[in-house]
Amino acid sequence: MTKQELCQKAVEMQKFSYVPYSNFPVGAALECSDGTVFTGCNVENAAYGSTICAERTAIVKAVSEGHRDFVRIAIAGNSEDFCVPCGSCRQVMMEFAPGMEVICLNAAGESRSFALRELLPYGFDHTWL
Ligand code: THU
Repeated sequence: MTKQELCQKAVEMQKFSYVPYSNFPVGAALECSDGTVFTGCNVENAAYGSTICAERTAIVKAVSEGHRDFVRIAIAGNSEDFCVPCGSCRQVMMEFAPGMEVICLNAAGESRSFALRELLPYGFDHTWL
């Protein structure tokens, strides 16, 4: 899948977001090393802390179906600036794929790519245990 197609999938996933509290839909599309793509959206909750971000939805879908080898993820949000993943999502990405690429989109559909290591330098992982 091309980068553009992956980004398009992330944008399309925003329509499934359940966001009655923030009204900020986020979509994600996660590509695995074998080319499989898992998608996700944010799912909010009246107990705000139980909200699940789009990125973690996609990652948990992938891991629960036997996929852990992630290459890149596209994240789409309707913000002026690029929609970057929260700290919890960065940490969950680090668990499985410290070398992955994170493609962040803004409302205009423009993208900026980061290495996960850039977003989470000195990230804690299994090597400390
Ligand atoms: N959110 C995501 O799903 N991913 C991000 O990268 C940033 C934030 C969600 C969580 C919440 O539903 C809403 O966006 C506002 O924080």
